[in-house]
Amino acid sequence: MSPPAKPPSKFIPSNRPVLGPEEIAIVTKILESGMLTHKSGAGTYVRQFEESFSEFVGAKHAIAVNSGTAALHAALLALDIKPGDEVIAPPFSFIATTNMVLLCGAKPVFVDINLENYNLDPDKVEAAITPKTKAILPVHLYGHPTDMDPLLELSHEHNLRIIEDACQAHGALYRGRQVGTIGDVGCFSLYPSKVITTGEGGLLTTNNDEVAERLRRIRTHGEIRPYEYVMMGHNYRMPEIEAAIGVEQMKRLPKFLEARRRNAHYLTKHLSDVEGIVLPQEAEWATHNWYLYTIRVLPPRSRDAVQKALHQAKIGAAVYYEVPLHLTPIYRELFGYTEGLMPVTEQAVREVLSLPTHPALTEVEIAWIVEQVRQALA
Ligand SMILES: Cc1ncc(COP(=O)(O)O)c(C=O)c1O
Repeated sequence: MSPPAKPPSKFIPSNRPVLGPEEIAIVTKILESGMLTHKSGAGTYVRQFEESFSEFVGAKHAIAVNSGTAALHAALLALDIKPGDEVIAPPFSFIATTNMVLLCGAKPVFVDINLENYNLDPDKVEAAITPKTKAILPVHLYGHPTDMDPLLELSHEHNLRIIEDACQAHGALYRGRQVGTIGDVGCFSLYPSKVITTGEGGLLTTNNDEVAERLRRIRTHGEIRPYEYVMMGHNYRMPEIEAAIGVEQMKRLPKFLEARRRNAHYLTKHLSDVEGIVLPQEAEWATHNWYLYTIRVLPPRSRDAVQKALHQAKIGAAVYYEVPLHLTPIYRELFGYTEGLMPVTEQAVREVLSLPTHPALTEVEIAWIVEQVRQALA
């Protein structure tokens, strides 16, 4: 039996962090100790957090940094992406994905997505490979994995590196394997809206010892011993307070994933007969982490009108992303991209709408979301 749908007293955000007394206690303890960070980047809590994450995903190494953006930049640098190189990526992502390619002096080459899971269409990748292509950068958008086997095959054939943007995909599985452990390097974000958070923060995963060593060096200015800088690097260190929050969040992660799945299934069960929308699908080879439950509102119905109605009902229905990367002013200016270049992505930006599935949702709130979506589309 579904609970009665009641209007919420407060706005229901599309995502929100779930923190408790454990996080507060550990942060207080660190503040009292004065050990706020470690110059090597590998303080006590950073190491503990890294161990816990590497164990969770089943990767040999996890390296904590101070954002998902930093993780992407470090991954590209560690794999030696340089000026003149090309990196294949989807145009349907957060801009950090391809801005980090630009920051390395390389060129992002966009390949369109598919509408089944909003990720790189593997059938379109090969045509984009040139002698300058050095890497493929799939994004596991909304927490649904990209179909990786065709990309792995291409990477072997053409000697390409694979960097997984798993910033939204903690705990998602591709054919039973944790995303972020399938390519050469995986990148995760720990921003407050994400599946787990440290405030700001990022994690890198790899099974390659040499790459892990390079990533650790990049995290602290390329330093291997005091004042011995052997390569280009940055200050990408994660503070101890953040890492300690991460240690606590890791204990909650299995429950978070369970709650997201339960909420997603509830939405699917109660929205499957609504006309004019397409519900998100989980491919038979995938385990979604349900970071975002993204529907499509089909014309002639207006996605923007549905979003507006849901906002008026205090539901944080969100559009990720309103503008595809190739049509942002910076990419238009740099590369001369225009409308029509990536037709599937351009359709997606007009139709997608993400509904809340976060673990803090109450049964009454989720019943309210169902009722209001049905009403908005009636
Ligand atoms: C797909 C994707 N890539 C990269 C990032 C960048 O992560 P951060 O915000 O932690 O720098 C994010 C997060 O916003 C993201 O969603």
